[in-house]
Amino acid sequence: MKQKFGKIFYVSRGTICKIPFYFRENCVIIETAITDPEIQRLGKLLAWKYCRGDFMGKIIAVANQKGGVGKTTTAVNLAACLGAKKKNILLVDIDPQGNATSGLGISKKNVGHATSYDLLIGDAKAEEVVIHTEFRGVDLIPSSIQLAGAEVELVEMENRIIRLKTALCPLRERYDFILIDCPPSLGLITLNAFTAVDSVFIPIQCEYYALEGLSQLMATVRQVKKLYNPSIEVEGVLLTMYDGRLNLTTQVVAEVKKYFDGKVYRTTIPRNVRLSEAPSYGLPVFYYDKWSRGSLAYQEVAKELIKANS
Ligand SMILES: Nc1ncnc2c1ncn2[C@@H]1O[C@H](COP(=O)(O)OP(=O)(O)OP(=O)(O)O)[C@@H](O)[C@H]1O
Ligand SMILES: [Mg+2]
Repeated sequence: MKQKFGKIFYVSRGTICKIPFYFRENCVIIETAITDPEIQRLGKLLAWKYCRGDFMGKIIAVANQKGGVGKTTTAVNLAACLGAKKKNILLVDIDPQGNATSGLGISKKNVGHATSYDLLIGDAKAEEVVIHTEFRGVDLIPSSIQLAGAEVELVEMENRIIRLKTALCPLRERYDFILIDCPPSLGLITLNAFTAVDSVFIPIQCEYYALEGLSQLMATVRQVKKLYNPSIEVEGVLLTMYDGRLNLTTQVVAEVKKYFDGKVYRTTIPRNVRLSEAPSYGLPVFYYDKWSRGSLAYQEVAKELIKANS
């Protein structure tokens, strides 16, 4: 698997040198024969930034306990669009329904591979669970139906809240973004995700009951912040299945903007049949119909996310 890497630009006797570096097993490796004290200083600076987490991928939960609001559609398509923009992405499916797994063309029945269940409940190591997909820059930790029993199994387990965080930790440096597709509940599986992440990305369907349940979601985020994960933030709110011609949509947008002041993404996701067809072919919409309105919208969301994090 690819490690995070970069290049140091370094001026030596008036010429600019490019020196590649990368990380392996918590060490900064600089590929150069030059033993200049300046290189050593830069190496120390990189090592310090690395320890501070500057090179670590950002972990984002795509969550809303309300069912069918577009969490999986967002997680899969955002992953594919970010991957297409040369980002290294890991998509973690922690929903027993396994829709993100099948949405990336991996059969749930024949995963034949360790899954997020083995990470949460078993002793599988994160790197054993990762599948490289055929889509540029996108790796997947698949889900399995076994996860349906995980809520009950977790109750009995030690460290039941931090199991996902501990499991994902070694993978962090290898990716630019790790996206977690959450199930439609605020149970122990979602709590594990909230404890592991830097932020929560909330898709909201533009419909009459859009705000229903959001106060409960936000109360859970605040509780997790207080008890387990002080750095958790709201990454952004994405309005899905948007139809600007409807008065109702305009009202919902106004309410959501009032509730999540400044966090609502400028891009909205239109209701688009290509988005609902793509998963049946096991394809993100970018690879199914790149120029469809749904695909273009998710490409814009990817741009907004990258901009907000650069
Ligand atoms: N913008 C859209 N336009 C048309 N159909 C959409 C759109 N977004 C999602 N859908 C469809 O709506 C259904 C629900 O979407 P999705 O599975 O992404 O929601 P979810 O929040 O992950 O659901 P769950 O809570 O069950 O996990 C799916 O059939 C999906 O294809
Ligand atoms: Mg889903």
